[in-house]
Amino acid sequence: MSRGSGGAFVYREMAVFTGNAHRAFAEAVCRHLEMPLGECEVFEFTNENIFVRFLQNIRERDVFLIQPIGSPVNTRLMELLIMIDAAKRASAGRITAVIPYFAYGRSDKKDQPHVPISARLIANFIEVAGADRLLTMDLHAGQIQGFFNIPVDELHAQPLLAEYFRSLNLANPVVVATDVGGAKNARNVAERLGADLAIVDKRRSGNDEQAEALTLIGDAEDADAIIIDDEILTGGTVASALELLRRHRARSVYVGCVHQLFAGAAFERLDTPEISEIVFTDTLPIADGAFARAPTKILSIAPLFGDAMHRIHTGGSVSDLFR
Ligand code: R5P
Repeated sequence: MSRGSGGAFVYREMAVFTGNAHRAFAEAVCRHLEMPLGECEVFEFTNENIFVRFLQNIRERDVFLIQPIGSPVNTRLMELLIMIDAAKRASAGRITAVIPYFAYGRSDKKDQPHVPISARLIANFIEVAGADRLLTMDLHAGQIQGFFNIPVDELHAQPLLAEYFRSLNLANPVVVATDVGGAKNARNVAERLGADLAIVDKRRSGNDEQAEALTLIGDAEDADAIIIDDEILTGGTVASALELLRRHRARSVYVGCVHQLFAGAAFERLDTPEISEIVFTDTLPIADGAFARAPTKILSIAPLFGDAMHRIHTGGSVSDLFR
């Protein structure tokens, strides 16, 4: 690191690496940046201990480690932590953990007796390992940023989702949040489309991953409903919202989500011609499984990550990307 002509600190060139979570995404980011993906080996020994070795010099480099924390979550997390440690010990100038999907985000508060706040614990792990910054996308709750004492840049996929749904020229779009917590993101999409917003009053009982859509706040009759959620796992939330929208006589239903985690059940629950299209981004590799009856569309957010990384490297504004 040295002082540039304006007195600001300037890091030596960027170096981008990835673990085993989502290599295709890291390659897409590097294609956008017109630079090679760095060489690094990340593997498990027979005793399941993870090993990392950078195969090039990263001394004083501005290092970006791309690793969404997808399935198998705990392995991907450990890979990332060990990569950060290895980069630190190889004298990287600055280390940015690029985590397109931040797992454990749903454990962001103590809402039952005797439970952890795992998102906070993961934030501590990442910092203690030696990350200097975090770049991520659509945390389950924006307040998770506050679990970190390092700078956090949180990107948002709503502009991209809105742009796509606008291109469909739906006659009577209504954006539907799957619960009160998701209303802000859904409103963001609704405003961009000039559409009305409706909100599902959702109830979860206990920790059994069962979601129940109780009532719809707003109107969806004869509407082209666009369900917006930050993530889909079992598909229960979207399936119950779909049932509610059917009762409210929506004429078509689209689904837009940022992070597709698609557990097996999602492929059964959401594979229905009653869903006109399921749209999601590539923050995570596509889960094993397929939809035979519901069409799908993947929107790549790799260029957005590439632009944000370039701005972080050159001291540009990341928030300007969303103006
Ligand atoms: C919950 O608050 C989230 O926004 C999603 O609605 C939830 O994670 C989706 O999970 P599932 O698909 O298992 O219902």
